[in-house]
Amino acid sequence: MKANWSIIVHGGAGTWAQEAHAAAVAGVTRAVAEASQLLAAGGSAADAVCAAACILEDDPTFNSGTGSSPNIDGLCEMDACLMLGHELRAGGIANVQRVRNPILVARKVLEETDHALLAGEGANRFARALGFEDYDPTTPASRALYAERIALLRTEGEAWMPRHRALVDKYPALFRGTIGAVALDRHGHLAAATSTGGVLLRLAGRVGDVPIPGAGTYATASGAASATGRGEYCIRTLTTKSVCDRIAAGMSAADAARATLDEVNRLAGPDTGMIVADLAGRVAAVHATEAMPHAFATSEDPSPTASMVAR
Ligand code: GLY
Repeated sequence: MKANWSIIVHGGAGTWAQEAHAAAVAGVTRAVAEASQLLAAGGSAADAVCAAACILEDDPTFNSGTGSSPNIDGLCEMDACLMLGHELRAGGIANVQRVRNPILVARKVLEETDHALLAGEGANRFARALGFEDYDPTTPASRALYAERIALLRTEGEAWMPRHRALVDKYPALFRGTIGAVALDRHGHLAAATSTGGVLLRLAGRVGDVPIPGAGTYATASGAASATGRGEYCIRTLTTKSVCDRIAAGMSAADAARATLDEVNRLAGPDTGMIVADLAGRVAAVHATEAMPHAFATSEDPSPTASMVAR
């Protein structure tokens, strides 16, 4: 058994309003504190990343679980994925509706099915069959934001997607990010979990990077990563697979994260962030956005360190 453990979480890359910084830092700190206790006691990386993800999903500060961004129809269609590096197995759900903790449904896909990804109505049915209760993830704030923005989009015409970039620049709250957690446990196993409400006002049925292994979530025997930002960029560049490949080739978590971010920026665009862990217990956070609330702890330094910006 290795002595090292590590955990790092993120609350989404993007532009965060100043008044949300304190809640975001408090949220990622709580998630790391909870996961650290599990890891320090010999718990698994899978349990640690799921515990961290549930705390972030339950916190409406973040765009996942409770407070998820509605799609263009006003519905919360959520994506999540859990991947275990030592087994190279993943479980994901895409566009699942009306569940409280999408990451726990994704975990059931991994643990109880022969599949890697369930989507839409099938994912909803799966969740109910396994006993996940009906739960409305919208909040008064998310409903108010949707009503305001959908009215604005209607008055501005139908060219919805080409305008998202300008809209997001004008209204940063539209682009609150995903949440994610990656961990190394004392058994030398790595795991990654990511969960999101997706981008506000996206077309119904759109699937982002989060539930797609290698795009928003990936883990191997030597590295684990969770990405955040504009999902289409991560799908096109297979962001998290690229980081893990670099770690497998000998790079540290920090060097691999930086090289991959540079590549994504060059090939796709500048909206991405990611958290990474390697087998040596090193963690890294990088982003090309203005902010990305994140926190981490390791067996060497078990008190959570949290920040809005990665240095
Ligand atoms: N990265 C989250 C999404 O694009 O859905």
